Amino acid sequence: MNSALPRSFRKLMVTKITPNFREAVEIKHHNLVKPRPKEVLVKNKFVGINASDVNAAAGRYFSKVPTPPFEIGFEGIGEIVDLGEKVTELNHGQAVMHMKFGSFSEYVYVPEEEVIPIASPNPQLLPLLLSGTTASLSLDKCGLIVPGEKVLVTAAAGGAGHIAVQWAKNAGCHVIGTCSSPDKVKFLESIGCDRPINYKEESLADVLRSEYPDGINVVWESIGGEVFDTLFKNLAIKGRMVVIGAISKYTDGSFGQDTSKGLTTKLLVRSTMLNGFFLPHFINDVPHYMNILVRLLHEQKLKPYIDDGSLQGSSFKGLEDITRAVEYLHSGKSKGKVIVSL
Ligand SMILES: NC(=O)c1ccc[n+]([C@@H]2O[C@H](COP(=O)([O-])OP(=O)(O)OC[C@H]3O[C@@H](n4cnc5c(N)ncnc54)[C@H](OP(=O)(O)O)[C@@H]3O)[C@@H](O)[C@H]2O)c1
Repeated sequence: MNSALPRSFRKLMVTKITPNFREAVEIKHHNLVKPRPKEVLVKNKFVGINASDVNAAAGRYFSKVPTPPFEIGFEGIGEIVDLGEKVTELNHGQAVMHMKFGSFSEYVYVPEEEVIPIASPNPQLLPLLLSGTTASLSLDKCGLIVPGEKVLVTAAAGGAGHIAVQWAKNAGCHVIGTCSSPDKVKFLESIGCDRPINYKEESLADVLRSEYPDGINVVWESIGGEVFDTLFKNLAIKGRMVVIGAISKYTDGSFGQDTSKGLTTKLLVRSTMLNGFFLPHFINDVPHYMNILVRLLHEQKLKPYIDDGSLQGSSFKGLEDITRAVEYLHSGKSKGKVIVSL
């Protein structure tokens, strides 16, 4: 064991299964032990907040609902501080990113093949990881986007959405993005969105009917409920709808209740496609897409935006602030990728 390391560390644990994140989690102490032979120990410097943190707290998406206490958090960025005895390709001090479940922790044990080495623990890379690979892979593999097509991105100013907008623009598409404030409209314009729609000021259905009468080729849908229905109705012939999430249902008790009636007929009469996308099913494609995203960043064709809460008050720091950051993301006020520094 590296003698410079503390004997214990703190980690956020789900102690009660509920989508109310504040009620679900507690900080617990764990002993710091030597990593297993093929693992590395990473000291997290930044962690990414995701809409689905509340789903994990509610025990959703697991093949079997875990019994509390269980760990939580999907991604982080930090430095290797200890190595298992059989790790040969990585060194102490190496900066890495990871999507290790349980990342809401000061330290995390990660299998050596699951870390992504990077030049420095730069938080600007965090939007590319879970959000960026979700956005790009889902648009390519399920949206099957083609240059010149009209692509609509929901929650377009969000962590995954702002990368989806830029990915579709880089692919030569016309991009429409939904959001909820004038400030987000400006942000969307700054990242190349052709038609930002502030749905609090304009009716989504009216804009689509009047400005896109032939319909939308690809819809990247993360909201659910009425938004899903409106967008599904406005798919072009041979259009594709990619279901990424249903955030409007994560915390209001209606998770899993679908609304679109007569779905089969609606699919048939317009030759449309309805595709679900869940990142863990595409995990083998992540390294390739991560490389492309990093290249686009270096070529300045991609502008990741991080939101550490500082514009709304104080910046998120430490495990104690993760709950505040999750609530901020679900308030609809955040812009880009919400992150917490540890
Ligand atoms: N399938 C996968 O593998 C996968 C992976 C990553 C993310 N996702 C999904 O992608 C979506 C975006 O996730 P994210 O982590 O990047 O979050 P985010 O977009 O950074 O934040 C959520 C945004 O959703 C919008 N929103 C619309 N209706 C809402 C409602 N009723 N309650 C709260 N927010 C609402 C808000 O923006 P505006 O209202 O301003 O538009 C809010 O800022 C989520 O649905 C998430 O579950 C799926």
